[in-house]
Amino acid sequence: MNGDLTFAIIKPNAVRTGKSGPILAMINEAGFEITGLKMIMLTTQQAENFYDEHRDKPFFEGLIEFMTSGPVIVMILRRENAVEEFRNLLGNTDPEKAEPGTIRKIYAISVRMNAVHGSESDESARREADFFFSDIERF
Ligand code: RTP
Ligand code: MG
Repeated sequence: MNGDLTFAIIKPNAVRTGKSGPILAMINEAGFEITGLKMIMLTTQQAENFYDEHRDKPFFEGLIEFMTSGPVIVMILRRENAVEEFRNLLGNTDPEKAEPGTIRKIYAISVRMNAVHGSESDESARREADFFFSDIERF
């Protein structure tokens, strides 16, 4: 059975341009409950650890530079089958390939600046949530 938690980040391009509110509204309307939320600046080390799986990719350096370029909003979301349902709500990594009505179709500027992150498995969701939230910061 799939888990009911996922972890998400509203990325710097979306926070900077005032899209956090509309994105949070889409998340709520899609049936997710927000059980943890805060605005933080990622350190280079945090961003590198977070995207460790992409360390050898050509886009890694640009990705880290982007993710540390301004505040982000990190959050824990709850819903049945959370990881898969949230990835569906996000749409394809590349906004040009994302389906109409998805968050990335509406708010992504490019493959890199694609507005929101969502965990790709229950295991990463737990790891990512634990990385950013202490027990007393989640509800
Ligand atoms: P995310 O991890 O942020 O939810 O995105 P994702 O699973 O859809 O995509 P992933 O393959 O994990 O890539 C992580 C992030 O790296 C940036 N990226 N840039 N070719 C490029 O320039 C490129 N490819 C990926 C994006 O910000 C992507 O979300
Ligand atoms: Mg990913």
